[in-house]
Amino acid sequence: MAWETIRKEATADANLVDYQAACRGFSWATAAAALDGLPTGGLNLGYEAVDRHARGPRAQLCALRWLGKDGSRRDLSYAELSALSDRFARVLHGLGVGPGDRVFALAGRVPELYVAALGTVKNRSVFCPLFSAFGPEPVRQRLSLGSGRVLVTTRALYRRKVIEIRSDLSNLEHVILLDGPSDEAGLLDGPALLEAAGDAPFTVEYTAPDEPALLHFTSGTTGVPKGAVHVHEAAVAHLHTARVALDLRDGDRFWCTADPGWVTGTSYGIFAPLLAGVTSVVDEAEFDARRWYDILERERVTVWYTAPTALRMLVRSGGELAAGRDLSALRHIASVGEPLEPETVTWGRRHLGHAIHDTWWQTETGAIMIANYRAVDVRPGSMGRPVPGIEAGVVRRTPDGAVKQVPDGEEGELALRMGWPSMFRGYLGDPARYARCFADGWYLTGDLARRDAEGYFWFVGRADDVIKTAGHLIGPFEVERVLVEHPSVAEAAVIGKPHPVAGEIIKAFVVLHVGHADSPALQADIVAFARRRLGAAVAPRELAVVNALPHTRSGKTMRRLLKARELGLPEGDLSTLENP
Ligand code: WT7
Repeated sequence: MAWETIRKEATADANLVDYQAACRGFSWATAAAALDGLPTGGLNLGYEAVDRHARGPRAQLCALRWLGKDGSRRDLSYAELSALSDRFARVLHGLGVGPGDRVFALAGRVPELYVAALGTVKNRSVFCPLFSAFGPEPVRQRLSLGSGRVLVTTRALYRRKVIEIRSDLSNLEHVILLDGPSDEAGLLDGPALLEAAGDAPFTVEYTAPDEPALLHFTSGTTGVPKGAVHVHEAAVAHLHTARVALDLRDGDRFWCTADPGWVTGTSYGIFAPLLAGVTSVVDEAEFDARRWYDILERERVTVWYTAPTALRMLVRSGGELAAGRDLSALRHIASVGEPLEPETVTWGRRHLGHAIHDTWWQTETGAIMIANYRAVDVRPGSMGRPVPGIEAGVVRRTPDGAVKQVPDGEEGELALRMGWPSMFRGYLGDPARYARCFADGWYLTGDLARRDAEGYFWFVGRADDVIKTAGHLIGPFEVERVLVEHPSVAEAAVIGKPHPVAGEIIKAFVVLHVGHADSPALQADIVAFARRRLGAAVAPRELAVVNALPHTRSGKTMRRLLKARELGLPEGDLSTLENP
């Protein structure tokens, strides 16, 4: 079925009205001029996000409106957030933690996490968020790959996920508890440290724009997670995209529903709205349809950035919850992270008063690269067009290492011309893998797409076997290597199985060791083992015991064949589905 283009008025108050003109007139130098820079001439992401506002007319404006699980709320002005993050920076400094040192965070959406992120980058240390629903194994792996010197967490998370792996983390010198003292030895009392840090302003040292500020782990098909390094000048792209793609401007109440444990929740849940000088709403609680409508209504959210899985859950919760709501403050809704089906785009228009505007980007790109814009026609099902300043193409790699664009309408790999400010600058400790992402001046994304004659991009799929479940990118190998540690499991393969709400769920196929008999109890034990080690977000939701797994002649597991069988595709078509 062809979906009709949603025509937009050239709304005079939109930040981007004429797409072609915005692209033609764009330069990154002009975009950079929207930031202040440090008094010393450098550029620091944390300073730009809070300190410069704290010194100007936004000092008393609410920067963060935090909504607690229990119904409590806390507002922090730009001045307060600047002062608190100064304290945190001073705590790090006092511990001897300096430029380039990696500070990891494992915490839910609490105000202290935001303070720690800002303080870390103001201290020129590198902030590295971990998802609080990770189990001990993903936490251990990332902390050791990233040689974390500091971990900021809570008592409960420390006990549940860190205590058992701490002896493996030889670089980890300091664990700061955000929620106060603990009886256990070797843990620092965060609130007491902040108190003792005093309230003299912290002077942000000269920061080179290309100095690392953030480290985000992401997954590939094989091997260990990759640490994508982002630099301070990513701020230029965060602010630019906040304006053009999210339409942020003075007076906005912005709500990004993503968790800061993932890149969206950091780039757009922490930094971008602060860079834009708006009020950012943070909800500590997990998804709940009624609560979410309440937040949109009561907090008078103006711009909302969310994800397809969450939107599908809202759709499922029924129209009654949306009916009769006053959503008149809402001006723009955008989505990211997984394919957004046209039905959901138009559902937004019917039930929330606005089409959902899909955007596309990745951990590696650091900021939105392709988007649908508030005052520009939307093609439901399309990811939109490149952000002004970004050149995107659909390409094919030739055997001699060159890259060729394919004609409009044809499928190929989505690629971006190198050189935007939030482009990742390396995979930590793996320059070869980083180099393989680039060819002929292009960054190759690993996504398959096509472009139509009007320049809109359409997502086709992934070129590799990574899984997108509820918007989270999971590497199959990370799950498989834990499954085979179960005493009964000889071999494991993991795929993303299509699911109407989560997009995909993780399904595992396992072969048992000789002499181990399959039973419901054994299967439950394997799943429980995986959940314990990996955490609920990463563990398989379904498991099947099989006699053998399909392999290529070179011995690689053919995950795509398993997936094709799961989908009931005819075996004859499977040749094209082999692992690349
Ligand atoms: C992968 C990146 C985007 C930041 C958060 C996730 C998929 C992203 C879309 C979209 C279809 C999408 C791609 C991409 N993806 N946006 N609008 N439509 N797929 O970052 O965890 O690095 O995941 O998410 O496959 O490569 P990430």
